[in-house]
Amino acid sequence: MGAGAASRRVPYHGAMAASRLVRNPHVDRASVTEGSAAAPAFHASLPGFAPTPIRRATTTAARLGVGTVLVKDESRRMGMPSFKILGASWACYRGILAKLGVTPGPAPSLDALRDFLASSGRDLVLVAATDGNHGRAVARVARILGLPAIVLVPAGTVASRVEAIEGEGAEVRVVDGTYDDTIAASAALDDANHVVVDDTSWEGYTDIPGWVIDGYSTMLDEVVRAIEAGEVPEPTVVAGQMGVGALSAAIARKFARRPARLLVGVEPTDAACITESALAGRIVTVAAEGHTCMAGLNCGTPSEIAFESNLHGYDCFVTIADEFAEEAVRVLHADGIDAGESGAAGLAGLLAEREALSLGESDVVLVFLTEGPTDPVNFRRILGE
Ligand SMILES: Cc1ncc(COP(=O)(O)O)c(C=O)c1O
Repeated sequence: MGAGAASRRVPYHGAMAASRLVRNPHVDRASVTEGSAAAPAFHASLPGFAPTPIRRATTTAARLGVGTVLVKDESRRMGMPSFKILGASWACYRGILAKLGVTPGPAPSLDALRDFLASSGRDLVLVAATDGNHGRAVARVARILGLPAIVLVPAGTVASRVEAIEGEGAEVRVVDGTYDDTIAASAALDDANHVVVDDTSWEGYTDIPGWVIDGYSTMLDEVVRAIEAGEVPEPTVVAGQMGVGALSAAIARKFARRPARLLVGVEPTDAACITESALAGRIVTVAAEGHTCMAGLNCGTPSEIAFESNLHGYDCFVTIADEFAEEAVRVLHADGIDAGESGAAGLAGLLAEREALSLGESDVVLVFLTEGPTDPVNFRRILGE
């Protein structure tokens, strides 16, 4: 890997598409500590819960020029097309108890919470801002609990994602602005009965997004258990795609002190808020005006409570144009794995900077397929169908 920020343009299907590899000047993996371990027992109590598969993608490995590619496939987590239910469910559970002033018991479960809510006489409403997956997951939790949900989405959110949220029984409100504007609108709804369950944090709003990150640890635990059981090899390269950085913080907290030679964070070029913040050494906001097809990563401001883990946990960052995400969707499809654009972004970053990252036959690459094709129209276009 080259030193400092390197910029390059690579030929792509006749056009020129940009990617950028940025060495993280603040990497200090030994300083990144594990988060809370409470969520996995809670998740095991959820209806329809089961660990997701880790797939070996041989065509993808050949394309990357590495020995093995492991794909943690979150495209069917509890019947939903992304990993987000892990964070949303744990954060809803803890957030509702906090709103009611109740201390969580030793055996947390949504069923027990539903019974408790029914007898409490409180009319709670769950609120979430989202670019799709998180809001759908919060809506699902509300449905399980028998609560109404209001889900705020930025202007331009594709119809299939809005319909999926409505399909969970939530009221969807379109905010005329970006994802950051949507977050601000959700925060304004917080009151005695409205529990705002956002996956990003800001000054004064840290508990719930902290529980979101803790919830994601269940997915990482599943991978570590498989490694330690000898079912899959220890990865040498781990890639995590970044929106506000909650997912990537959870990845860093689990993998920063493990043997991987490289932890790589991947962002869309047009919404590279964590890369830019890492270069600045402090949180900065980027425009993120909403054009990337990697909708789940289209965020302008990093989550405050995730930032330390991202700042110290990643060896480097790769920013990519949409074309790389689309290519990664096609490559995974050739392995029989269907991904959405955000879901394929980790792999896309490695494909884009494979040579600069010195990927080789001895590498075992771990990527997280964080969503299935949640925009079916674009998915078919990408595959040329
Ligand atoms: C499919 C998918 N992958 C990755 C992410 C990134 O997660 P985070 O915003 O925590 O960085 C998101 C966020 O919405 C997402 O929807």
